[in-house]
Amino acid sequence: MKRTTKHNARRGSANGDPSVLVPKVTPKRFFGLGLPGVDLEKLSGKLVVVEGADGSGRSTQIARLVQWLEASGHHTLQVGLKRSSLVSEELETAQQGNILSRTTLSLFYATDFADQLENNILPALRAGSIVIADRYIYTLMVRDLVRGMDEDWLRNLYGIALVPDAVFYLEVRPEILVQRVFAKQQALDYWESGMDLGLSRDMFDSFLQYQSRMRDTFRRLQRRYGFDIIDAERSMDEVNAELRQRIENVLAGDLSRQPTAG
Ligand SMILES: Nc1ncnc2c1ncn2[C@@H]1O[C@H](COP(=O)(O)OP(=O)(O)OP(=O)(O)O)[C@@H](O)[C@H]1O
Ligand SMILES: [Mg+2]
Repeated sequence: MKRTTKHNARRGSANGDPSVLVPKVTPKRFFGLGLPGVDLEKLSGKLVVVEGADGSGRSTQIARLVQWLEASGHHTLQVGLKRSSLVSEELETAQQGNILSRTTLSLFYATDFADQLENNILPALRAGSIVIADRYIYTLMVRDLVRGMDEDWLRNLYGIALVPDAVFYLEVRPEILVQRVFAKQQALDYWESGMDLGLSRDMFDSFLQYQSRMRDTFRRLQRRYGFDIIDAERSMDEVNAELRQRIENVLAGDLSRQPTAG
């Protein structure tokens, strides 16, 4: 996780620089009961989520967005799955050994998420930062849903989460994803290929089947939570230009595409 503290965004605006974006405060809410003792009105920052499969280009886009936002004078904080100081190492070990049941693994991820929410995301939003999340509860829910877990149980579990100000799902067809993953790391990941589901003994075939199930489930959740689907098969520049445009609208307080609590 990287924390960047730069000059105050509002200072640039006072200098009359039109390129500096000053985020407009808009109401925040939790999906469910949320965390106790949080004053939502004090959360003046913005929570922007970038979702998408392995190789969809999340890291590429987030790096560019952070650079752009920081150059505009914003504080940014990057968070992501399995990055909590509390349990990330233990979670990695548990996954490598494939020793946990689906429910316990799910709760382990939820713990990792809750720790980051409480100790990183909320304090940064209180300080007026722009938090960029590399994946959020949607990926966690989709992974569990394709493994047959109960949707109401998951919705209840993630009722602690804050509804983001924007969610961008970078959509790429599985057959393109596989090419990108191979180009980047010359191997497919056991979990991202859904090998635990026993769809196929062939990892390549399993990846295609698993990622297409993931995409179908993401689309279903999209209808419920109203996040933005971005065509991420275009060039990096085109995708980035669209993301910037949409984030500019969010910073300006435009609520027309805001995700819902479902
Ligand atoms: N729009 C694009 N067109 C073509 N290639 C791309 C595009 N975006 C990213 N890539 C390439 O695809 C590969 C995966 O990109 P990246 O690492 O950003 O994805 P990711 O979603 O963060 O993946 P991971 O899940 O492994 O973290 C990289 O080699 C990257 O250069
Ligand atoms: Mg990445």
